[in-house]
Amino acid sequence: MQNMKSFSARRLAALEPTVRDRCSELVDRLLARIDAEGSADLVEELAFPLPAVVVFALIGFPDGDTERLKDWCTDRMSFSWGRPSTSAQARIAEQLAAYWLYCETFVHARLADLRDDFTSDLLRVHLHDHEAVSVDEIVNVTYGLSFAGHETTTGLIGNAVHRLLEVPDRWSQLRAEPSLLPTAVEEVLRYDTSVVAWRRITTRAVELGGARLPEGAKLLLMLAAANRDPERFPDPDIFDLQRHDARAHLSFGKGIHFCLGAALARLELLVVLEQLLERAPDLRLVEGQLLSFPPNVAFRGPQTLAVTR
Ligand code: HEM
Repeated sequence: MQNMKSFSARRLAALEPTVRDRCSELVDRLLARIDAEGSADLVEELAFPLPAVVVFALIGFPDGDTERLKDWCTDRMSFSWGRPSTSAQARIAEQLAAYWLYCETFVHARLADLRDDFTSDLLRVHLHDHEAVSVDEIVNVTYGLSFAGHETTTGLIGNAVHRLLEVPDRWSQLRAEPSLLPTAVEEVLRYDTSVVAWRRITTRAVELGGARLPEGAKLLLMLAAANRDPERFPDPDIFDLQRHDARAHLSFGKGIHFCLGAALARLELLVVLEQLLERAPDLRLVEGQLLSFPPNVAFRGPQTLAVTR
């Protein structure tokens, strides 16, 4: 797995031109739609498709499969973290089996025809040393990565644009001082992260915050609450574009399971904000809209975000 981490760091860095090109095409579409119809849904036009096409390109999934992969990922989010009805659970279970089979078929096809993508990188490691990583593990990585690298970033882009436009001064401040953008990315992650909770199992008995936890306890960590801990961040409920230690948030977790895609997620949000600020400095939220969020304990981002100019 160490191999996976180093390979992915190199691969993610190489993805930057793809992120910039895809983002630019999607911003073209978003602005054209606003011009034609007066407003557009930023989630549908940009926040949803961008992370999907980028992470699928990283893995090597064919472009033509994007739509069904996106549907499977949405199903998976609802199945693991949401509250689908009994009949929906049965339907989703069938879909998830198809999704797993798709990943298996894809990895075996790559094994016979290695290419320039992350899956092929891992398969090269496997061919060199079968003990280092098995084909089944690689199937699992494609299944995991295609989900982890997608809805999370969609939610983050939606939360970011919402928070930056809800107070127009924030948007103008960023336009005037683009050097604040990296801090803005961290402050959005701290103030309104898209992964509000995560799971852990204790490996030994431990006392935490005065509570005794036995070995094997299943915990739900409230990452979003930690990000607003007043002992860590002064005035935590204030969104501050100049917060010097915003990056100390826990939105990407901590320790050996620290998010593998943190750099990519940060890059995608930065590129989106750079391009929107430059090409749509007059962007604003459509007034009076009520935001809705998926009924989900871990993932949070607006389902639609109507914007205009
Ligand atoms: C806003 C975007 C994202 C957020 C908030 C986020 C958050 C997280 C969190 C909280 C964890 C668990 C960390 C822990 O257990 O300590 C995690 C793990 C992970 N993330 Fe992300 N993530 C994001 C984007 C991505 C992207 C873009 C990718 C891939 C391209 C990705 C891949 C992964 C993987 C593979 C893991 C599991 C790492 C392991 O178990 O060692 N994530 N992420």
